[in-house]
Amino acid sequence: MIESTVLLHRVAEAHRAPVPFTLDGESATALQGDTVLTAILTHRARLRRNEFSHEPRAGFCLMGACQDCWVQAASGERLRACSTFVVAGMAFVTGEGAA
Ligand code: FES
Repeated sequence: MIESTVLLHRVAEAHRAPVPFTLDGESATALQGDTVLTAILTHRARLRRNEFSHEPRAGFCLMGACQDCWVQAASGERLRACSTFVVAGMAFVTGEGAA
């Protein structure tokens, strides 16, 4: 785990296959079938900070409607975290350390 403060805690289905990804350059592991939102928020308390208010964001609707869960891939691509499944080798940049 990247940090001690996380938003989501896995309570079921922990037997699914591991999916390695990178979060701000650090190795992390999700589980097969996780969305990017779940993958990140089981390691962090937020997805990113709002580009205007700098308030922490962690998604809102969880169904692809609110646009609150955009995350940036290391490639520069922006992804909607709640409706994108994590794939092995994905790399995300939040612009934040593990705090
Ligand atoms: S949480 Fe609303 S679009 Fe992803």
